[in-house]
Amino acid sequence: MADSAVPVISTGLQNIYITESKICRVDGENGKLYYRGYSIDTIARNSNYEEVAYLLIYGNLPKRQELEAFRQQLKNEREIPDSIVKLIKESANKADPMDVLRTAVSYLSIYDNETKDQSQESNIRKSIRLISKISSIVAAIGRIRDGFDYVHPDKSLGHTENFLYMLKGRRPAKEELVPVEMMYILQAEHSSNASTFSTIVTGSTLSDIYSAVTSGIATLKGPLHGGADEEALRMMYAIGKPENTEKYIEEALAGKQKIMGFGHRVYKAYDPRARIIKDYLLTLQNHASEEVRNLTKIALIAEKMMIDKLGKSHGIWPNVDFFAGPVYRSADIKLEMFTPMFAASRIAGWSAHMLEYWKDNKLIRPLEYYTGQLDLQYIPIDKR
Ligand code: ACO
Repeated sequence: MADSAVPVISTGLQNIYITESKICRVDGENGKLYYRGYSIDTIARNSNYEEVAYLLIYGNLPKRQELEAFRQQLKNEREIPDSIVKLIKESANKADPMDVLRTAVSYLSIYDNETKDQSQESNIRKSIRLISKISSIVAAIGRIRDGFDYVHPDKSLGHTENFLYMLKGRRPAKEELVPVEMMYILQAEHSSNASTFSTIVTGSTLSDIYSAVTSGIATLKGPLHGGADEEALRMMYAIGKPENTEKYIEEALAGKQKIMGFGHRVYKAYDPRARIIKDYLLTLQNHASEEVRNLTKIALIAEKMMIDKLGKSHGIWPNVDFFAGPVYRSADIKLEMFTPMFAASRIAGWSAHMLEYWKDNKLIRPLEYYTGQLDLQYIPIDKR
């Protein structure tokens, strides 16, 4: 390319492939998603979070003994250092839970004597440690924010059941466990989304996995990415009653506002995860609380309006975040915990990508096209 030629600039890295991967296929045209070749519908119907995490990390479904050993490893890693509990106690009521989580995960690295070991075996061990401990940290943040003391993990419980036990201080009811397990499965992985990409960018410098995952958490926080589930629920609360929905959405769109929980960089069809979450929500209605029934009505009106106005014509459909709020509320999970829980699930995908990328690492260093001035004359400060 001649120096004067303007390069093609892909803002937001839209349509740019950064690597080959065998972890996840997002078929945005047809609204399909596969983890390691298994469709998300099959996974959501048959699997559980521990098995999904194993599948993402190792590339195949575990045999019974392999799954048992993996579960045991997760259980053995659940406890978090006292100083991290102290950090959470000092900050949980002053700061956004995602800020506390990001700081705590970064802090975890100093308690791991393997942090600098870049062998694949060590990085697998650290991934398992992170999958286990991030759930404990998120539960501790929620529990301490609610004014209660830290609850130590219970080794007799499964991964998400233990998470809810540490969050609520009691074993969860089935109605609490089922939706949380579903959300953990559906949010575990999604190819090179923004947070996974920033995880890989940090990892590509051969920085350690704690640094890479800390970048991922920082990126997930934003309302255009993982933070959208909280914003979508805030909107439903602001709408208040189903009969207000139409006016609210009309006015928001007329004011060029984005409706959170809709639209996606890759999906130009209905996000299959949103469909699974919506279907679950619809099964709840007779036994759901008044709050959840009301939120569901609002969500369904908003969904219909958005699809009529922007679905086929603009490719803007519900994404994974839209129905998440009412589902989390059915398990009595507070709004501020949605994005941290997203991170507690997505850690499996972030780790899988790092393990894959490091096998053939290449520093990520894109270009920007400079449009500023050159060779300016330097004027001393007292002459400017
Ligand atoms: N509501 C209304 N209009 C929208 C929405 C929306 N949710 N999403 C996109 N649009 C419109 C934009 O205003 C823009 O219109 P214009 O061309 O007239 O300016 C057009 O569609 C393209 O939107 P962009 O934001 O440029 O497209 P991009 O591919 O960058 O957007 C994104 C993807 C960021 C997810 C966007 O759809 C959005 O902001 N959605 C709301 C936030 C959200 O739900 N994020 C979660 C995504 S899933 C996840 O990360 C877990």
